[in-house]
Amino acid sequence: MSFSRRAYQVCKVVRREEIVIRYILEHKRGGLKAETVALSRQPLTKGRTELQRSNKRAILVTGAFGQIGSELVPLLQRRYGIETVVASDLRRTARCAANKVRIETLDCTDTQAVLDVVRRHNIGTIYHLAAMLSATAEREPQIAWRLNMGGLHNVLEAARQYGCRVFFPSTIGAFGPSTPREQTPQVTIQRPTTLYGVTKVAGELLCDYYASRYGIDTRGLRLPGVISYMTAPGGGTTDYAIEMFHYAVRGETYPCFLTDHTRLDFMYMPDVLRAILTLMEADEQRLRHRNAYNVTAMSLTPPQIAAEIRKHVPHFSVSYKVDRTRQAIANAWPNSLDDSAARIDWGWRPTFDLADMTKHMLQQLSSSSRRMRENRLQSATHQ
Ligand SMILES: NC(=O)c1ccc[n+]([C@@H]2O[C@H](COP(=O)([O-])OP(=O)(O)OC[C@H]3O[C@@H](n4cnc5c(N)ncnc54)[C@H](O)[C@@H]3O)[C@@H](O)[C@H]2O)c1
Repeated sequence: MSFSRRAYQVCKVVRREEIVIRYILEHKRGGLKAETVALSRQPLTKGRTELQRSNKRAILVTGAFGQIGSELVPLLQRRYGIETVVASDLRRTARCAANKVRIETLDCTDTQAVLDVVRRHNIGTIYHLAAMLSATAEREPQIAWRLNMGGLHNVLEAARQYGCRVFFPSTIGAFGPSTPREQTPQVTIQRPTTLYGVTKVAGELLCDYYASRYGIDTRGLRLPGVISYMTAPGGGTTDYAIEMFHYAVRGETYPCFLTDHTRLDFMYMPDVLRAILTLMEADEQRLRHRNAYNVTAMSLTPPQIAAEIRKHVPHFSVSYKVDRTRQAIANAWPNSLDDSAARIDWGWRPTFDLADMTKHMLQQLSSSSRRMRENRLQSATHQ
């Protein structure tokens, strides 16, 4: 079959602008190969993605100075170049000054401001992290709706207008009490009873819609509780797990706000970052789900975490002072996730289990509290 006849067939199934992009790319590669013809019959975003890469378009991170963004930004900088990454948030942190990162103060509920930033920086990929988390969203549902839904809608609209790829973090909070609780499947009942969950399910569906309606390359993860040491947790129901490590290092008893038999899924931050990068670099033809993939590493109760901590800090103890709001949220979430779709589609595998994570968390927190003590001592002796 001649090139022009093949191109004509492609023309019948894809939009005009996308054909131009594919045409240029395939000519650069030296002609149409059988597999690229097959690809071009599917909804076309591949060409756009490759064009963004080759043009070295910039990366925008929203909510960049929160728990996940604080660690994702440096990783993206290392991987794609410092100049490539634009970190945006409502606020700035002390670390901003030391780091050479490009920074924008951006309220992602401001439609025009989002469009301006995407246009000015020639953004090709948006990691949209800004959101209000579960416990805080239950206290301020009206604000949470505006931020979680309005922010995502603005980001997707900017992606549509400027041809960007989008990463959207969903959550185990996108499930509810009627969802199967053990090994919760990838595709299942999603009727959450929290405002946070409602915005995340709607967000997943909105990503799906922009992918199928406009061909936007949207990718997402349903993250479990994220455990990390670099920043304070941001108002989620799984924050207790992080707080436990901080109390253990300080030698204090931890007052846990969930009951001792509450079982939830968790991941350690290095695995979260790897999951995000692996998903974003995966071959899009293999991605069957454009809303969000279940991912997890461990399913834990508070006593299990405490017991592992005690292997390193023998006198660590936990008391239980249950917070009814957060307990009600946790009760509606799965006990464990089935992440086989992520494993099959883009090779997801966690690397940290409870033992590895506990050892690493305690080492990091102990050395940072030692450094703080030494700094305080030094500044006291200089005065
Ligand atoms: N941390 C977790 O355990 C977890 C689990 C599942 C999903 N997620 C999702 O991952 C994403 C990031 O979570 P995180 O833990 O880093 O959250 P975080 O609360 O630590 O950080 C959110 C950041 O968003 C910023 N922000 C708030 N309002 C904003 C606005 N109007 N415009 C721009 N920025 C704004 C905040 O200043 C903050 O720096 C969220 O979408 C969250 O739902 C997190």
